[in-house]
Amino acid sequence: MKLPSFFEEDLQAVDAALQKLLPSEATRPSSIHKAMRYSVFAGGKRVRPILCLESARIFSEDVSAAMFPGCAIEFIHTYSLIHDDLPALDNDDLRRGKPTCHKQFGEAAAILAGDALLTLAFETIAAAPVDADRRVRMVTEISTSAGTVNGMVGGQVADIEAEGKVAGPEMLEYIHRSKTAALIRASITAGAICTGATDQDVARLRSFGETIGWAFQVTDDILDVEESSAALGKTAGKDIAQQKATYPSVFGLERSHQIAKELSEKAISELAPYGEEASRLREIAEFLVYRRT
Ligand code: FPP
Ligand code: MG
Repeated sequence: MKLPSFFEEDLQAVDAALQKLLPSEATRPSSIHKAMRYSVFAGGKRVRPILCLESARIFSEDVSAAMFPGCAIEFIHTYSLIHDDLPALDNDDLRRGKPTCHKQFGEAAAILAGDALLTLAFETIAAAPVDADRRVRMVTEISTSAGTVNGMVGGQVADIEAEGKVAGPEMLEYIHRSKTAALIRASITAGAICTGATDQDVARLRSFGETIGWAFQVTDDILDVEESSAALGKTAGKDIAQQKATYPSVFGLERSHQIAKELSEKAISELAPYGEEASRLREIAEFLVYRRT
């Protein structure tokens, strides 16, 4: 599956914005800014900020303000990966083909770099050049998606507690929708809110985001089984080793591929009213499900 043609351009714009928003390495205390920058610039695909920009593009030609919530979500995503890799959680040495943050800088620095990125995220949303009302709504979308009630931290807790147990389809769905889909959904709704979409449009995009985010995690589970560590830039096969609740472990690989496809089709059908305006979002949705890394 090839990257959408506009992806590289968006990615470079996102990287330039992240560069500006992060304190320089020289800023005191230098060690924490080095650790934050190391993980933010370790080669992530920038899927979440790109989704935010492309969701905004449905409603406006000028999507520059949406860069703020997009980058905020990339900071939250990076914090979650840093903490997920810690010895107390998944205990991983490799992420995006490089030593994990705690391997490079030590555990204390990695914990604090995660904390600092989460904090910087909200500073970044507050700085978005849009009405205060929109900023508050973005804070609500993004903070709840990263929180404990059907959000990322809640999903992570359930993910840890399900290790080594037999998870049923209901628990599996809860974990995936909370741990991964919620933040992806927020990327899409924040982009829409930032550019002044109506409540009806936000609701439609919420449904698209929720479903494509779910499909994204089903694909992530599949890749953990089918791809090598070299291709993924992280330790492949860890889900089985840690007896994680995953789609392949509960439904088998073939059915998991089918579920990912069905979810992505359902998500894309939500975009029908937007016609050509949503063509980029459609392309990304397909890429997310048929990607190999
Ligand atoms: C890969 O994203 C990441 C996921 C599929 C999300 C997994 C969820 C967690 C690790 C939650 C952790 C939560 C806490 C609170 C520790 P990606 O393929 O976009 O990665 P990339 O940015 O490296 O491309
Ligand atoms: Mg994990």
